[in-house]
Amino acid sequence: MPSDLYIVVRWVHVLAAAAWYGEVAVINFILIPTLSGHSGAERKDFVNAVFPRVFRMASILSGTVAVTGGVLLYHHTGGDLRILLENLWGRFILVGGALGLLLTLFHFFMESRLARKIGVGDPDLSQEAVEDVHLKLRLVPRLGFGVLTTIFVLMMIAVRGV
Ligand code: HEM
Repeated sequence: MPSDLYIVVRWVHVLAAAAWYGEVAVINFILIPTLSGHSGAERKDFVNAVFPRVFRMASILSGTVAVTGGVLLYHHTGGDLRILLENLWGRFILVGGALGLLLTLFHFFMESRLARKIGVGDPDLSQEAVEDVHLKLRLVPRLGFGVLTTIFVLMMIAVRGV
């Protein structure tokens, strides 16, 4: 891959990763606490107005991070992932990339199914279901934030050393 294209792919990777990280921070520290401040129909309207958009943005950002990360990885390894075990850069990218891939797959397969199942976006959502949504939305993004923080640090150490 020409080096100038590599630089562009790397910038897209880091910018999408930073935006995804920022989105999960806003979910945890702004949206969920605000949702907790609402109750009844207000809470349902908030969930239905905000979270379908949140899921869509997370799909675009996590997909972009995974695809550009894969391109960066292939550039360095030619597809032979055993190379990653040979040095610090490789081992940190291996762990960070594996966590990143798992989180992206979780988002695409589990999280959107969970959202549909618990009725995010459904105007006829029952009040019990709204409470169930709130409970799950308080747990899943917190876990995601912890994993994304770990990945960010691993990738930064990989590229810059300790
Ligand atoms: C999904 C799987 C992922 C793969 C395969 C992957 C792969 C890579 C690779 C190969 C690099 C090194 C580029 C280089 O040395 O030039 C890199 C850099 C980086 N990655 Fe990832 N990545 C993934 C997910 C993530 C995630 C989820 C985040 C954070 C939310 C992230 C944040 C970063 C950052 C910040 C750098 C640049 C570090 C720096 O320049 O200091 N990556 N990634």
